Amino acid sequence: MDSQNDGEINSIGNNSLRDTCTGPRNNKNDDPSAMVTPWNVEGQVDYDRLIKEFGTQPINAEIMEQFKKLTGEVHPLLKLHYFFSHRDLDFILHKIENGEKIYLYTGRGPSGMVHMGHLMPWMFTKYLQDKFGSKLLFQITDDEKFLSSPDRTNEEIKRFTYENILDIISMGFDPNNTKIIVDTVHIKHIYPIALEIAKRITFSTSKAVFGFSGSTNIGMIGFPPIQAAPCFMPSIIEGRPTPVLIPAAIDQDPYWRITRDVAERMGYYKPAQIHSKFLPSLNATGGKMSSSKPETAVFTTDEPEVIEKKVLGAYTGGQATVALQRLYGGNALGCPVFWYLRYFFDDQKKSDERFVRCISGDLLCGECKSDLAEESKSFITTLKMRREKAKDSIQEYMYENEPLE
Ligand code: TRP
Repeated sequence: MDSQNDGEINSIGNNSLRDTCTGPRNNKNDDPSAMVTPWNVEGQVDYDRLIKEFGTQPINAEIMEQFKKLTGEVHPLLKLHYFFSHRDLDFILHKIENGEKIYLYTGRGPSGMVHMGHLMPWMFTKYLQDKFGSKLLFQITDDEKFLSSPDRTNEEIKRFTYENILDIISMGFDPNNTKIIVDTVHIKHIYPIALEIAKRITFSTSKAVFGFSGSTNIGMIGFPPIQAAPCFMPSIIEGRPTPVLIPAAIDQDPYWRITRDVAERMGYYKPAQIHSKFLPSLNATGGKMSSSKPETAVFTTDEPEVIEKKVLGAYTGGQATVALQRLYGGNALGCPVFWYLRYFFDDQKKSDERFVRCISGDLLCGECKSDLAEESKSFITTLKMRREKAKDSIQEYMYENEPLE
């Protein structure tokens, strides 16, 4: 652990609010089943260990100071260490400081409907776009999601692609500075760059990085350069090497490792990353919220009654009885309801107060769950109206304005 300044977050009692927002149980264990690849996130994730294993840098006081110098503030998702790791973020911030334009690049694999966990990196990406006036490429890897699961059909993925695009547009990205790339639709813009990348990556490298084996279908084996390509598209669009920053969950890191490996040989900057944690699921099984386990997540299309039911039925860090709760207090750090409120709805002061009231036994779980249910219902209601409006602007957001069909 580096000796970083944790700001106000550590000021609450002896318990640090850092590094623990992974779900119901503390992540500081040695869960031998824990595994993080782009297609699978299981077990309790130890984020400090990931920084070491992946060889990334922690988001520390220095980086936060750099952000503050540029924007006059530190975004809560940085302060709270939801974005906890990076590569070359300092390089990107220096470029911005020197008045250079950078691109943002992020994406979505359309394997299902979008839930609240997906929105946090997107909200942060929109924030960066607004602050720095950056252009954004948003890739939809419909090909990847077709290949990565044996039972997904192309029809299903087409539907999720459409639905997911409505969510993306509803985030409010600047239509003049945002282009959505759907792999199967815009492949002709991706393929020439993907080929250059593919030629420079051996099978043994990609086996080691992605864990491919003899039973992996060859579509998957050929896919990584397609996700790498948008890292270099800005340089081609702008006609000169252009810095790119990728906000993404840490499970996407293997792609950027292989991309960084080939970047300089191809005459481009290595793409920089800022890595997020996963949002805890609403039940006790740990891991991230999952589209394939609908009860563990609040979807952007859920009806208010459904949201209420999910949230009121959520796992919490509470004791078994009210008497025990009053006596021992709750485990706020191990409580997904606490983390949802902290990341999405409470400001830091309110959240810190909630924390103290919880661990001292003053606060019962019913109150937090009801706060979260109310906030989530109104958040999703607003989002749904924006999704409806988004239907009219799909083509405007598409790369080269090429229609989806
Ligand atoms: N592979 C990602 C997923 O499954 C989608 C994706 C494509 C992406 N390009 C990206 C995510 C860039 C983050 C940043 O969700």
